[in-house]
Amino acid sequence: MNRRKFVKTIGALAPAAAFVNSTFGNPLSKQVKPIVISTWQGNVKANEKAWEQLMNNLPALEAVHQGVMVPEADPDDMSVGYGGLPDRDGVVTLDACIMDHLGNIGAVMALENIIHASSVARGVMEKTPHVQLVGDGALQFALEQGFKKENLLTEKSVAAWKEWLKTSLYNPMTTVEEIQKSIENNHDTIGMLALDHQGNLSGACSTSGMAYKLHGRVGDSPIIGAGLYVDNEIGAATATGVGEEVVRICGSHTIVEAMRYGKSPEEACKSAVERLIKMKGETYCKKVQIGFIAVDKNGNTGCYSLLPKFTMAVRDQVGSRVIQAKSIF
Ligand code: GLY
Repeated sequence: MNRRKFVKTIGALAPAAAFVNSTFGNPLSKQVKPIVISTWQGNVKANEKAWEQLMNNLPALEAVHQGVMVPEADPDDMSVGYGGLPDRDGVVTLDACIMDHLGNIGAVMALENIIHASSVARGVMEKTPHVQLVGDGALQFALEQGFKKENLLTEKSVAAWKEWLKTSLYNPMTTVEEIQKSIENNHDTIGMLALDHQGNLSGACSTSGMAYKLHGRVGDSPIIGAGLYVDNEIGAATATGVGEEVVRICGSHTIVEAMRYGKSPEEACKSAVERLIKMKGETYCKKVQIGFIAVDKNGNTGCYSLLPKFTMAVRDQVGSRVIQAKSIF
């Protein structure tokens, strides 16, 4: 029996006593402590759903999928799924991706009329030879898979869009004030990472993207390597904030690579944020928010952002808590 099979067998028989292969050798020496983390304090409920899956000894993939489905279905969450703010034309377009411990990936971009973009992304991963579907093609695939077409606009999101139409100010470089306001409203992407009893990592990311964006605009959230990355030997990372800036530095992959070369999850998140500053300068970076969260193979976590007020929600055996991220500015 090879080591992977052995670890899996042990995990299935006695989850609480399962072992993880330490990153630094000495295999099977460490008890796995499952954990779920997600971007933003508003996602505590999503973490609880994911945690339930882990406690039922389901894989991290199932945990992150079930977890992100929570805000996707919540009409009061105006940045994800149903109730998400529309683009400038009043159309809600969703982006999502998912990645498991085996390097399997799936993503949908600019998907319309389907609440659970993450489920369609998982369908792309599990049922097609491809890794990304966009727009009409993503919708066609979703309908073929039995997903129902729904109106994703709510009274609240239509009212907000109509208010925006009064000025129609299209400014992708969101102002600091707007960023702070949106943060106070818990307004952005969910990125979620989980480590399961078998010591395997998975992640998922889902968003309705930047409010009032150009029709067809896609940010970081469905881009593997930008909005999300998982390397089961090392760790995983996911992102929130202005997608254009996260894509520019391949944020999540950059963080996993930094962990590979010895940085802690927090140091790795900080190094990605610093890379954007190096590339674009302080003046530019003071006007955009990006935030990252990361977990390593041993369940250590970290987060960091450019501007203040970014939070990470954590759920583990200790309980549920919210961590205020450190920020550069
Ligand atoms: N981070 C979400 C987006 O920019 O679309």
